[in-house]
Amino acid sequence: MPTDFESQVPDYQARVNDALARWLAHPERTPTQLGAAMRYAVLGSGKRIRPLLCYATAELLGCDPARVDAIAVAIEFVHAYSLIHDDLPSMDDDDLRRGQPTTHRAFDEATAILAGDALQALAFQVLIDDPLLTTHHADQQANLVGLLARAAGPNGMVGGQVLDLAAEGRSLSAEELEDLHQRKTGRLIEAAVMMPAALFPHRSESDTTQLQVFANHIGLAFQIRDDILEVEEDTATLGKSADSDAANAKSTYPSVLGLEQAKCRADELYQGAIAALDQLGSTGSGLRWLCEYIVQRHH
Ligand code: IPE
Ligand code: IPE
Ligand code: MG
Ligand code: MG
Repeated sequence: MPTDFESQVPDYQARVNDALARWLAHPERTPTQLGAAMRYAVLGSGKRIRPLLCYATAELLGCDPARVDAIAVAIEFVHAYSLIHDDLPSMDDDDLRRGQPTTHRAFDEATAILAGDALQALAFQVLIDDPLLTTHHADQQANLVGLLARAAGPNGMVGGQVLDLAAEGRSLSAEELEDLHQRKTGRLIEAAVMMPAALFPHRSESDTTQLQVFANHIGLAFQIRDDILEVEEDTATLGKSADSDAANAKSTYPSVLGLEQAKCRADELYQGAIAALDQLGSTGSGLRWLCEYIVQRHH
């Protein structure tokens, strides 16, 4: 039996896809090639996990999903930008993403770099320009910008990417690897829970702490599962190279801990995330479903 949230996943995905397309539809002002590359990178077949986390958190907090559309869009823009740059020849040098040529392959390298730059800037513009956030949560807009900037910046995703590249060909300790994964992937996933939560600054401190614990656990579990999938699945299933980590001699959970230990760690994090949700009370079916999906998914 699908849970309530599971049956709504296609609607939430369609909802965020519409919102993403609306924010990308400014052909009269954006140079044609740049706009095309931005739409290409964003509007492909992404799973929209981060937006789904935004909507599930909104459900938990009893918030109208429309209020978090802008947050979902902003985070997905930063995610799409991170993928464009991650695939560049100077980084992971990958040719396939979401089952189609990577942006630098479909366009050219300069256009791909600039499309990533533009998506990052547009993400912050969305948080400032969104009419619903401005009307109902103007007191939180600066805070939202800060949360996203910290998740994406030198101590977040970009810092993690630097550590990831520096670790190529080296063997990291389990602690170093956990720190790298928390930064490169965990922080943005955490933001997908904590930015919607920031719209309700007066909720109890203990609820906020439990949400933070939940978000932190699933953020790391998500990247561990990504590492495991590269070992267990093929390129056709993943829609991206299944050989990229090995070809680049990356430090991954299976390469550092072994496949079984990597799975144990993902399960431990899953249990910790569920325990945090239990502390929040019986609601949160969406977050519970997403938590399970994150550690069990096959692509
Ligand atoms: C892939 O993220 C990159 C990582 C951070 C592991 P997703 O698995 O969410 O990618 P899409 O958006 O569904 O393509
Ligand atoms: C992706 O990390 C993380 C970011 C893009 C920030 P990976 O390089 O491990 O992810 P895939 O396998 O290319 O999606
Ligand atoms: Mg990478
Ligand atoms: Mg990569």
